[in-house]
Amino acid sequence: MRTMRIKTVRLKNFRNYGEQTVEFSNGLNVLSGKNASGKTNLLEAVYLAGVGRSPRTSKEKELIKYNEDCASVKITVEKKYRSHSVELYFDKSGKKSVKIDGIPVQKMGELLGVLNVVFFSPDELKFIKDTPDVRRRFMDISLSQQKKDYFYALQRYTKALKQRNNLLKQNSPAALEDLLDVWDVQLANEGAKIVLERNRFIEELAAPAKAAHLAVSGVNELLELSYETDVEGVSYEEIRVCLIKKLSAAREKDIRLQFTSVGPHRDDIAIFLNGADARRFSSQGQQRTAALSVKLSELKLFLRETGETPVLLLDDVLSELDETRQNLLIKEASFAQVILTCTSFPVNSPRNLFIVENGTVLKM
Ligand SMILES: Nc1ncnc2c1ncn2[C@@H]1O[C@H](COP(=O)(O)OP(=O)(O)OP(=O)(O)O)[C@@H](O)[C@H]1O
Ligand SMILES: [Mg+2]
Repeated sequence: MRTMRIKTVRLKNFRNYGEQTVEFSNGLNVLSGKNASGKTNLLEAVYLAGVGRSPRTSKEKELIKYNEDCASVKITVEKKYRSHSVELYFDKSGKKSVKIDGIPVQKMGELLGVLNVVFFSPDELKFIKDTPDVRRRFMDISLSQQKKDYFYALQRYTKALKQRNNLLKQNSPAALEDLLDVWDVQLANEGAKIVLERNRFIEELAAPAKAAHLAVSGVNELLELSYETDVEGVSYEEIRVCLIKKLSAAREKDIRLQFTSVGPHRDDIAIFLNGADARRFSSQGQQRTAALSVKLSELKLFLRETGETPVLLLDDVLSELDETRQNLLIKEASFAQVILTCTSFPVNSPRNLFIVENGTVLKM
């Protein structure tokens, strides 16, 4: 088994940090500190280097320390065959640049897959009852890291969707039928790739998630996941043709509504617990257990898909779980590098403990 791991994180004027270097170890790393000390900020920097965007904000200027002009994050990561460095730079004017191994990259897609991360925070524990866009984002971020082609298909799809929606908002869209035809074909071509990959992703996630849920819940509760879509078909071509038909059938309605009402941007993950729709009927405890099970399976899927475990970022989740679930999480995650934050660590003195205080990190 291969474990991707972060060796060092260097921050400069990132959020509440000045200049800070942190060296992480294999296995479990614990960041402990009071509220507002900078724990989540550090995880945010790591996530950013993995995914290319913040889990908290789309306004990158917010990442720059107050009263400073620019911020940077540099991470070195040790992988199966070699080490890599990822560097991000932001300035006040909105300029952003990314370097991999010191070489500037033009497309964000090139960043994906260099450092893979799975992020888990109390927000994610609500994933089951959240709105469908949250579950779509989960699939999109995970798949984009695992497969660059997915990321590029998603980018093209999103662009085509925007263009189609813009057309639908025009005064006389009926006069633009030819243009709509063009965008329908684009949407179907890219959309079919998205549906196909998401379908497969959820199919592969389902069995390990079911097993994890049985183990974590301690009761005989059946967790079932499936990809929820109006689009039918198994092969790329079947899905593509179906999408074309659906788009064409929805056109009149879409012109009236001024947006595109069918396609993978409307899809969801169906989640059932003992046959009942968990999105509507699950208790808070059931939701947490199911969300945790899904995340743990995501970790396994990364390993299967890329041959390496991603870095697991656990932000403040232990306090939200009871002791059985805490222990299970730590045990299940033990084969990955874990960076975990907490205000007070509930388990006996961990080996790699860092104290975070007011924007400085100290190794104990
Ligand atoms: N751009 C910025 N410049 C300076 N400080 C910032 C910036 N953005 C956020 N902060 C500060 O960072 C602190 C929050 O850090 P962070 O979210 O990492 O806290 P935390 O240690 O995770 O706390 P908690 O335990 O409450 O989750 C806040 O005090 C906030 O004001
Ligand atoms: Mg925090």
